[in-house]
Amino acid sequence: MFFSKSIIATTLFAATTLAAPLFSCSTAKALMTLPANETALAKQTGAPSFALLGVGVQNYTCGADAKYASAGAVAELFDISCLGGTKAFDTVQDTAYNIFKLIPDKLISAKNAGLISAPIGVFSSGKHFFTPTANNGTAPVWDMRAVGVKSVQGKPDAYVLAAKVANLTAPNGAEDVPWLQLKNVEGDLATAIYRINTRGGQPPASCAVGSAPISVKYTSKYFLFGSTVV
Ligand SMILES: *[C@@H]1O[C@H](CO)[C@@H](O)[C@H](O)[C@H]1NC(C)=O
Ligand SMILES: *[C@@H]1O[C@H](CO)[C@@H](O)[C@H](O)[C@H]1NC(C)=O
Ligand SMILES: *[C@@H]1O[C@H](CO)[C@@H](O)[C@H](O)[C@H]1NC(C)=O
Ligand SMILES: *[C@@H]1O[C@H](CO)[C@@H](O)[C@H](O)[C@H]1NC(C)=O
Repeated sequence: MFFSKSIIATTLFAATTLAAPLFSCSTAKALMTLPANETALAKQTGAPSFALLGVGVQNYTCGADAKYASAGAVAELFDISCLGGTKAFDTVQDTAYNIFKLIPDKLISAKNAGLISAPIGVFSSGKHFFTPTANNGTAPVWDMRAVGVKSVQGKPDAYVLAAKVANLTAPNGAEDVPWLQLKNVEGDLATAIYRINTRGGQPPASCAVGSAPISVKYTSKYFLFGSTVV
């Protein structure tokens, strides 16, 4: 167990710290770039409030139709603002994905999910997870209350619970989860949230009815705009 934790800690430490300095910089150069010809996601002008790397899993349950259905996600968020304007900023999700992929899937199980975050919590800039809502569904949350970018960490409103607005099929491959635009429902961390530059996260095309839920590793960039955390 200790050995496993060490592997994960070391791997993720490498993935995130080689790529991303443990500091927070101005986001002036950490800009979101959408394909010029896409119209599904609304373009944003100017710098985001936060530029983040997400490293985690997309969860799926097997339906009666023998197809996987999305069942939320959990990811660790890392501030990549200091990479803004460098080549590493463009490819940080690839760097992280290629290293993260090396971790055996069985270690990224429900029982061990804490291992994604626990050993590297100190480097984390926030958490992404799903939470139940009043109307019985679940909604995605980006949370910097407990662990976060220094300027907002510890503030009670440093989170955003969001709802999907639009999606774009990932331009680079069927293995990558779609790019998304979401809007604020609750919290002050952002008014608009984007998941782009996704790597991985897609389930197999079919499943055996009755089989257990699965978690599929992914990385992505998350851009948060319009933070009003006070
Ligand atoms: C946008 O351009 C890329 C090539 O640069 C192309 O692969 C893609 O299909 C285009 N998308 C749309 C929506 O036209
Ligand atoms: C996703 O699966 C992981 C284990 O792989 C679990 O820790 C996490 O709570 C799950 N999240 C959701 C929203 O189901
Ligand atoms: C949640 O679902 C239950 C059963 O489907 C329903 O009775 C209840 O009214 C729902 N609650 C809300 C807040 O929608
Ligand atoms: C993506 O957006 C289209 C509308 O543009 C919608 O029909 C589809 O259900 C969406 N897919 C997902 C996975 O949200």
